[in-house]
Amino acid sequence: MGDELDLLAPGDEAAAGSVAEQPWWQRSAVYQVYPRSFADSDGDGVGDLEGVRQHLDHIASLGAEAVWLSPVFPSPMADFGYDVSDYCDIDPVFGTLEVFDAVVRDAHDRGLRVVLDWVANHTSEEHPWFVESRSSRDNPRRDWYVWADPGPDGGPPNDWTSAFRAVGPAWTLDEHTGQYYLHSFAPQQPDLNWDNPEVERALHDTVRFWLDRGVDGLRLDAIIKVAKDPLLRDTGAAGLPHHEDWETIHDRLARLRQVVDEYPDRMLVGELWARDLPRFVTFLSGTGMHLAHNFELVELPWDSAAYRDFIDRFEAEAASVPGLWPSWFLENHDLPRVASRFGAAELGSRRARGILFLIHLLRGTPFVYQGQELGLPDAVVPPERVVDVDGRDPERAPIPWERPSVAGAGAGFTTGAPWLPLVEDAERLCVAAQEDDPASTLHLTRRIAALRRRSVALSGGSQVTVDAGSEVLAWVREGAGERYLAMVSFAATQRRPSFGPDLPEEGDVVLRTSPEWTAREGAGPSVRLSELLVLEPGEGVLLQLPATG
Ligand code: NOJ
Repeated sequence: MGDELDLLAPGDEAAAGSVAEQPWWQRSAVYQVYPRSFADSDGDGVGDLEGVRQHLDHIASLGAEAVWLSPVFPSPMADFGYDVSDYCDIDPVFGTLEVFDAVVRDAHDRGLRVVLDWVANHTSEEHPWFVESRSSRDNPRRDWYVWADPGPDGGPPNDWTSAFRAVGPAWTLDEHTGQYYLHSFAPQQPDLNWDNPEVERALHDTVRFWLDRGVDGLRLDAIIKVAKDPLLRDTGAAGLPHHEDWETIHDRLARLRQVVDEYPDRMLVGELWARDLPRFVTFLSGTGMHLAHNFELVELPWDSAAYRDFIDRFEAEAASVPGLWPSWFLENHDLPRVASRFGAAELGSRRARGILFLIHLLRGTPFVYQGQELGLPDAVVPPERVVDVDGRDPERAPIPWERPSVAGAGAGFTTGAPWLPLVEDAERLCVAAQEDDPASTLHLTRRIAALRRRSVALSGGSQVTVDAGSEVLAWVREGAGERYLAMVSFAATQRRPSFGPDLPEEGDVVLRTSPEWTAREGAGPSVRLSELLVLEPGEGVLLQLPATG
């Protein structure tokens, strides 16, 4: 484990008071593990739960509060686990329930919570429920899925399309029974019929199964799709959607929340592609989810004004929802890596460091996707190795743990043949190489997280954005007598920020994200804001300001 977390002396958190008093899901990062690509313990080329267990110290070293595991349930893997054929077991490729229990136990021993992915909108076509449902029109489980007669022309019943562009219509004809079934994603992922209360009850039972086993929270996959227009009307070009986010959604979430609230201290985080921000925040009321991923952020261009506008609008909306707590993320297993998305090579790498700074130091919970702490770019996946229907292989490349020159081509991820190619520069980007380099993105992530964990202002304080000149995003965090000014440069070349008269004249440099800046946090040089050092491209800088009052 890196020495950065040692900066947090035992008892510091308790002494700080309210960092420890915040709910666990607000305190620090949730680290997303995509198990297929994290660590392979048995040499079959696919990551597994024993691999996760063996690397829990790595996750703890990042100052994370929780691990979110992408699906590990039995699955034919048409969508790599997001097509579940049994909600209450572990797929043999990942391990067994016993190994899962060991992961939970060992995670808890390290103070890490465990969050599971709950895929409730659809099952696999091989789930026994669907096998029964499609067997005949009068099967008792027919109504557990969404079946409809062909449209007047014999084609699909309406205009709904799959979220996977390559799939096209969200309907597939079942020749045997002469009806279409709905699939919001791949044809191997039939949508459950949430208008049937038996379906809802059965799914609630799957939640209890995992919460009884000690799981601390659920990430709700595609949750907005569990409520659709029961009349299956066209979504059309304009107006409110009919294929998701139907008016029944809030009641369904409230009933789910009740189930989760039967257990102490559990958390729900939703994957929520809401139509706009005012709609988004309605899901974060006391009867909804604790956290939600807002995809408006990930769709923003690399533009400081767009980020500032988003942050300001979010905080303005938040004011209307008591206790609303934001989440910040730019990477997951469905999105191109920041280091590739916002520039390549060195520029991309600098911006990836700036984004790690941003998601940890804005007001809210940071979500770090495995490999983001290494600043990994997307991998190059040649056409013959493409396996995903929706083009997401590059961001799912396995984690390079060791130098290939030492551990072989599997880079410590596997001793076998990896299911996807690794990133090209594994020799330099792997965990072992970054452990040896104090200026690495890995060490930077630990330093940023440690700062957050020991500061009430940074983990739970107030936030306001401030003017900093063009192409620089800046915000002030304040709480428990501390005050910080954070900034990230969005410029492609060096940039000197400029601040308005409302800020103090001087601040102490606590941290800079550029690799050149090797000083450690605390007791940094004092700088006059008017003469602030030039920011490198993508650079994040944290200054401690004199406290007000
Ligand atoms: C969202 C998941 O993140 C994605 O990987 C999956 O393909 C879809 N939901 C369908 O479950």
